[in-house]
Amino acid sequence: MDVDTALLYTQRTMNQTIEIIKARRSIRSFSDRPVTEETLSVLKEATLRAPTAGNMALYSIIEVVDQQKKERLALLCDDQPMIAKAPIVWVFLADMQKWVNYFNESGAVRRAEEAGLALYRAPGLGDLHLCMQDAIIAAQNAVIAAEALGLGSCYIGDVIENFEEVRSLLNLAQYTIPATMLIFGYPAQAQHVKLTPRCPISSIFMTDEYQQPHLKEMSEAFAAHEEQRRRVRSLPYDNSGTLADYYYLRKHTSAFMKEMNRSTEVMFDWWVNG
Ligand SMILES: Cc1cc2nc3c(=O)[nH]c(=O)nc-3n(C[C@H](O)[C@H](O)[C@H](O)COP(=O)(O)O)c2cc1C
Repeated sequence: MDVDTALLYTQRTMNQTIEIIKARRSIRSFSDRPVTEETLSVLKEATLRAPTAGNMALYSIIEVVDQQKKERLALLCDDQPMIAKAPIVWVFLADMQKWVNYFNESGAVRRAEEAGLALYRAPGLGDLHLCMQDAIIAAQNAVIAAEALGLGSCYIGDVIENFEEVRSLLNLAQYTIPATMLIFGYPAQAQHVKLTPRCPISSIFMTDEYQQPHLKEMSEAFAAHEEQRRRVRSLPYDNSGTLADYYYLRKHTSAFMKEMNRSTEVMFDWWVNG
């Protein structure tokens, strides 16, 4: 391949990638079309190409195939029946447990102590933070790869609710915590919904320092979102409210956000204190 052809190829591939990213939207209803082992394997390989901190792959993915477990997860994740109907369900774990095991079982901890080089240090919140980054970056690789393969996907943030029950359902160890969950499948025929709006680029990117967005900036940034909600008459106070009213009532003060906060406190405490 000569240089020009290679450049053209690179540009075309790049543009296709951008098009795929720009066309993606969350898919919550799936067709009966099965996902072949070959497609699943490509999806897994692409997921694994995600960068990870120090190349330690501080995450694991539990592929939930047991239908009863899917149904239980659907209930535990704020009762979202689509989870039980999804052909593929992946729970992304922040996972330091495998390294704690490896450090101990390989004798690395003992050797370092005997040589006076380091005392054992249990994973802390910094480790958890890094593990979370690895898990979530891998998840987004999976989302884009799925889109390229014609599969739809949807994040399930509610997997961080009901930690005690999720922990026992998935037999989690101390240093494994759900970071996020994804469901995948071929989109159902009927789905031709428009892309959801986004904020203008200028409202997201800041230069050199944090500049607090206040009322003017926020209402401008989310004007398109508010307009969309007003069109479908889904704003509070008989559609006369604002987007702030909508998210304050529907999300911020909701029972599921209360549960997410309770559950997250339990999981972080378990990670640190066992
Ligand atoms: C962290 C996170 C958690 C999410 N949790 C859920 C969820 O529990 N259920 C759901 O239906 N969609 C969930 N979504 C999907 C969002 O609602 C969706 O990405 C957003 O409305 C934008 O729509 P789009 O993805 O179609 O562009 C989640 C997305 C993210 C990034």
